[in-house]
Amino acid sequence: MTQYNSQLTTESTQRTDIDRQWWKEAVTYQIYPRSFNDSDGDGVGDIPGITEKVDYLDDLGVDVVWLCPVYESPNADNGYDISDYRAIMDEFGTMADWEELLAELHARDIRLIMDLVVNHTSKQHEWFQQSRRREGEFEDYYHWVDGTPDEPPNNWESIFGGPAWTYDEERGQWYLHLFDPGQPDLNWRNPDVREAITDMVTWWLEKGIDGFRLDAIDHLSKSDGYPSGDPDAPIVGIEHFSHGPHLREYLSELAAAFEGYDTLTVGEMGGADIDQVDDYTGEDSLDTIFQFEHMGVDTGPDGPWDPEQFGEWELSELKKLISQQQNEIDWPTLFFGNHDQPRPVSRFGEEGCHAESATLIATLLLTLQGTPYIYQGEEIGMTNNEFDGLAEIDDPMTVGVVEDLIADGAVNSYEEVRDLVNYQSRDHARTPMQWNESENANFTDEDPWFDVNDNYDEINVEALRSDTDSIWYHYQDLIELRHEEDALVYGDYELLLPDHDQFYAYKRTLDDERFLIVLNWSGESATFDADIQATDSEKVISNYSDSPTIPSGETFRPYEAVVYRC
Ligand code: GLC
Repeated sequence: MTQYNSQLTTESTQRTDIDRQWWKEAVTYQIYPRSFNDSDGDGVGDIPGITEKVDYLDDLGVDVVWLCPVYESPNADNGYDISDYRAIMDEFGTMADWEELLAELHARDIRLIMDLVVNHTSKQHEWFQQSRRREGEFEDYYHWVDGTPDEPPNNWESIFGGPAWTYDEERGQWYLHLFDPGQPDLNWRNPDVREAITDMVTWWLEKGIDGFRLDAIDHLSKSDGYPSGDPDAPIVGIEHFSHGPHLREYLSELAAAFEGYDTLTVGEMGGADIDQVDDYTGEDSLDTIFQFEHMGVDTGPDGPWDPEQFGEWELSELKKLISQQQNEIDWPTLFFGNHDQPRPVSRFGEEGCHAESATLIATLLLTLQGTPYIYQGEEIGMTNNEFDGLAEIDDPMTVGVVEDLIADGAVNSYEEVRDLVNYQSRDHARTPMQWNESENANFTDEDPWFDVNDNYDEINVEALRSDTDSIWYHYQDLIELRHEEDALVYGDYELLLPDHDQFYAYKRTLDDERFLIVLNWSGESATFDADIQATDSEKVISNYSDSPTIPSGETFRPYEAVVYRC
């Protein structure tokens, strides 16, 4: 299926008029360690397991690994609840293992960015333990509020369901947690907290890492006085704990720690609008932001967990959102999946056209302007799983939200939200990586911590790498093409046929270099009738072997995706 005409690519001339940054030219690969590769047979992925796969990553051609949290953690939220920022979780290995991974990645010119989770810690963190005992400087490290045990300080809801406050018997006060009760929010108003975080950031930078992905970073600054929230909003109170009054200031203070290091910083901002992104990036702030508006294309106004409205989306709306990101954000971050999102091929593709859908999404991801992020398993087209009941769910968010829906009477039982869970749960991305067709997809020799998707006998790395027409090779070819072509990295983006309900087509232009990308994002054939004013276009990559050489007036088959030079 993959057709890559390497003769048609040329060496890019070294231009001087481009603001070149390694992280603009890089393709990033995200690893969720628990589910990537288990080296010691305890059923849990680990750091030596990742080190075993560095040649795999090198073959794929990626430049950066984003490693989800590997720090010490009691795993209330799979590592996003950190109990010691300077130690490695036992299940994942040792600091020496981590150092070896870094060395092996660097030996292959692959950089490493770590996950920085500083909106909250674990309840087990010694800061929280000392804070609940009101010890010394730690007394105000968290958001503590007076009140009687039967009445939370206000009506704020946790993003994981239930109230955002938990009463701590030991201290006799309520503490704030925007996520799980095991993830108390740090009090960023306290300069000691900010200084302790900066010290920890510097400690990791000195170990030689290449940057950070900053978790839930838009929540650092809460509104003063903990007012009540809008009771009709999907998450009550979020307007008071997203993009708060001091966020920009805290980010600049944090950014000062990166000065003098050659890093990439990418902040996760679940609630940032497209036009807010540039306010948070630049010289004295973060380099880039994950902006999520395109990921809301298939959800209604009540957000992703509305049992009445999910899974319907319009191509014209997706094009509009991506085009806005392309045109309005200085340097976008490109992604269609991550460890919190369903699998892109299940969400935006069609089951009967699995390989074509997966390669179409890959083509879009790797030919837009911005820094692309591939989430583990996307390169083999891993799909959503089926979960038959809450007992099969690991994700605290899915469990909490479903329990809330039942408690609020929005649904009566799991049965009524089964389809929504099987569409939306974060667990779809967390099933183990499918390496080959042997038991448990060769992720582990023992019982895996989480069930492997049943389709591993067909969808696995070994099978796809033994077929040069596969999705895997399509990713490899697209990454190689992007590395060779400045126009695909830095070129301007121009959308064609904005209202067409089958084609997503656009041009990428850098001076006299121009690419045209034609994606038929539908299960039906369609005729491409845009006047692209080019008669001598060359097909560079396509996901059908005999795609049209000159697109105008030609028919494109279901999910056909072609990159032309013209
Ligand atoms: C971010 C992470 C998510 C985690 C949450 C709390 O959204 O991506 O996995 O649950 O923050 O840390």
